[in-house]
Amino acid sequence: MNKKNLISVSSFACISAFVLSTTVSAAPFEVLHWWTEPGELQSKQVLVDHLKVNDIEFEDFAIVGGGGDGAIHVLQMRALSGTPPEAAQIKGPDITEWNKLSMLVSIDKLVDTRAWTNFLPEVVIDHVSVDHEYMGVPINIHRVNWLWLNTKIFKRFGLAAPTTWKQFFAVADFIQAKGVKPLSMGGTPWQDALLFESVAISVLGPENYIKAFVHFDNNVINSVAMVDAFKLFKRLHRYTSIAQQGQDWFWASQSFINDQAAMFFMGDWVKGSWTAAGKEALKDYRCVPAPGTDGVFSYNIDSFVLFKKVNTDIEQANQKIFVDTLISPEFQIDFSVAKGSIPARQNVDLSRFDSCSKQSAYDFDHKTKVPSFTQNMATSSHQQGQIIQLISDYFNSESLSAEEAVQQLDVMVKALTSK
Ligand code: BGC
Repeated sequence: MNKKNLISVSSFACISAFVLSTTVSAAPFEVLHWWTEPGELQSKQVLVDHLKVNDIEFEDFAIVGGGGDGAIHVLQMRALSGTPPEAAQIKGPDITEWNKLSMLVSIDKLVDTRAWTNFLPEVVIDHVSVDHEYMGVPINIHRVNWLWLNTKIFKRFGLAAPTTWKQFFAVADFIQAKGVKPLSMGGTPWQDALLFESVAISVLGPENYIKAFVHFDNNVINSVAMVDAFKLFKRLHRYTSIAQQGQDWFWASQSFINDQAAMFFMGDWVKGSWTAAGKEALKDYRCVPAPGTDGVFSYNIDSFVLFKKVNTDIEQANQKIFVDTLISPEFQIDFSVAKGSIPARQNVDLSRFDSCSKQSAYDFDHKTKVPSFTQNMATSSHQQGQIIQLISDYFNSESLSAEEAVQQLDVMVKALTSK
């Protein structure tokens, strides 16, 4: 990365924010998001504080619900009634969908984005651009294919981290036989699908995973390997319980971090809530890639879009400050330290980050990157929602076979893409 450019861009951000802050009065700036769990609240506060320094008064539009399903529906209603917020947490292909409605502000027309290519990875640029125009501001990168190991329980039994599914089942069954819960799991459809996503990456391999879940390739969807992925996924159901049904990811993470369960599958936003509770990487938990996915980084990029409003000078100036703040290295570092992610910007100082984030940054550069389909990175949330429901129904059904589920997926995907 070109350091000269990094310095000039970050100072541009600060200077422009300073100049504008002398002329613009603090006006409420409404931001829709779904950060409502402890770690998320701390990171949201980082955003609030950074905006405040630049004279922007953050107006909270928080919709409870991990994964953002609820938030998207509420946003749709607000947009339809002509009162969208100033900014919203919209990611991946949904940015293109919203852009079709001509409701979004072009970031290129708002601020000088020419230097962004110097510090944003290509994959990040692709996910926030529509036809080479920035329509979203990327702030961080989460890794989704993590398996978290409880340090105390693994030490007590002298267990090594499982790297294959065979080892995973052996370790889980051993722990269960000792009377300890092997796996903590939440009970909402997107959490079931998040687990399936890692299984699918490992069984199909990254190339076929992308063919199936990004390009909806019917040959891969209708393959023996896909049936195998569904079968392996179903074997994990034995570690679930009725009590977890409907449980949010944060509550599921609690039994893991409080030493009542040995393992947990979740994206690294969960680390933010553990940091907020004073828990530490290595001492309290370890992070390893989900079994069979060592060479792969399943990514989730958080970004914000801006809505076209009345467009007074003040409103436009505030949107500009919002973008300049979000893209600055200072904000991206502070935010990701609290959130459990890594900054969307490359070559930033990682000295304040824990070992899991450092590994994440290294793996992002060195492993095969695949978009997380459960985190709005592969398809629009409308398509994603239906696929997730099917995966979850299969996981929790006593009668649906893997072959039938794959058949249903095939039919669904054909309908979704009108092939
Ligand atoms: C978002 C994260 C958030 C997580 C749980 C993901 O879709 O990208 O920022 O922390 O959902 O709410």
